[in-house]
Amino acid sequence: MADVSVNLGERSYNIYIDVANKHMIGKLIQDIKVNNKILMISDTTVGDLYGLRLIQLLEELGFIVELYCVSPGEQSKNINTAMQLYTKAITLGLDRNSVIIALGGGVIGDLSGFVAATYLRGIPFIQIPTSLLAQVDSSVGGKVAVNHPMGKNLIGAFYQPRTVLIDIDFLNTLPERELHTGLAEVIKYGMIADKKFFTYLRDHSQQILAKDSCILAEIVRRSCEIKAWVVEQDECESSIRAILNFGHTIGHAIEAYTNFSTYNHGEAVAIGMYGAALISNSLGMCNQITVNTLKHTLLQFNLPVYAPECNVDDLFRLLYRDKKVLDNKINWVLLNEIGEVNICNQVPETIIKLALTEITKSNYIS
Ligand SMILES: NC(=O)c1ccc[n+]([C@@H]2O[C@H](COP(=O)([O-])OP(=O)(O)OC[C@H]3O[C@@H](n4cnc5c(N)ncnc54)[C@H](O)[C@@H]3O)[C@@H](O)[C@H]2O)c1
Ligand SMILES: [Zn+2]
Repeated sequence: MADVSVNLGERSYNIYIDVANKHMIGKLIQDIKVNNKILMISDTTVGDLYGLRLIQLLEELGFIVELYCVSPGEQSKNINTAMQLYTKAITLGLDRNSVIIALGGGVIGDLSGFVAATYLRGIPFIQIPTSLLAQVDSSVGGKVAVNHPMGKNLIGAFYQPRTVLIDIDFLNTLPERELHTGLAEVIKYGMIADKKFFTYLRDHSQQILAKDSCILAEIVRRSCEIKAWVVEQDECESSIRAILNFGHTIGHAIEAYTNFSTYNHGEAVAIGMYGAALISNSLGMCNQITVNTLKHTLLQFNLPVYAPECNVDDLFRLLYRDKKVLDNKINWVLLNEIGEVNICNQVPETIIKLALTEITKSNYIS
């Protein structure tokens, strides 16, 4: 039984979510019609933790598996690493029925998916996401990419995996800060689509932060369900998929301003969500209680809401450099209330700058 299915016609696939299900992974891969050659791509951290065990399980089922580990982190998500992976795939003799498995966080998922999409014009691809961000976001929906020196994710494709296999147990070894970054995206799902889920998160914050596996499984399942629901309506991001960018417009500007070093993605998105809520409130779309509730929830999950090192004018300029800006118009995802957003591309500069002034103030001024 699939926990979540992503219905995209002939590109449909299932997401399986379980706790300690590694023994199931081999069986599920067997169900997908591929030959016995697998290139498993990971980073050295995740590969060292889980690679051997998974290879063993797959070899017991008759697969020939090669594990290729890249250095952990965003710097591996580039065309040079992709080239090394193509060389590996050619050397191993992977054909169109062989499979590439991404074992790792979003960096590994995006990179491996890009290689799978382009090698021989596309070979089967399976996601085994190990970070919370990858489990709730990057492994679902088919966006694959590598970075260009001039911008993130500029070289990519829409390429859906054959299946996504999620084991909540992977999160036991995930560093705290990486857990929090994933939680920002989880909170985002509540904000854009499901008030009840948002309340559930608030009510279970202690268990979530303590990595209670049953609660984590539930929040991963609901997050995947919401992402699948959005992607099913707009696979290639021509309309509603844009709501997934809630908090990302300002978030991307903060990441760029701080050179991707001060805040990780989820932290920047958390600040960006607070900024978007402030803009929504200034435009009279949502009330102050909604803004405060979001702010307190982010803080409850150890996420930041201020980026004091950023400068308002520079952030404002960077907003227009985002690759999602079309005809010099920003598509703002704004809040009506918790669980309901709308897209608006006409926000006065003064209102944007007011929000940027608030989010760049010092943490210590309340
Ligand atoms: N394709 C999409 O739709 C999409 C959506 C959101 C983000 N992304 C991309 O995802 C990337 C960020 O993903 P991420 O936050 O997972 O980063 P990541 O892949 O760099 O993983 C974060 C860190 O956690 C470590 N890690 C992962 N799983 C672990 C585990 N179980 N135990 C111990 N350590 C573990 C990794 O080694 C790494 O150091 C970015 O490149 C972003 O562009 C893509
Ligand atoms: Zn994101």
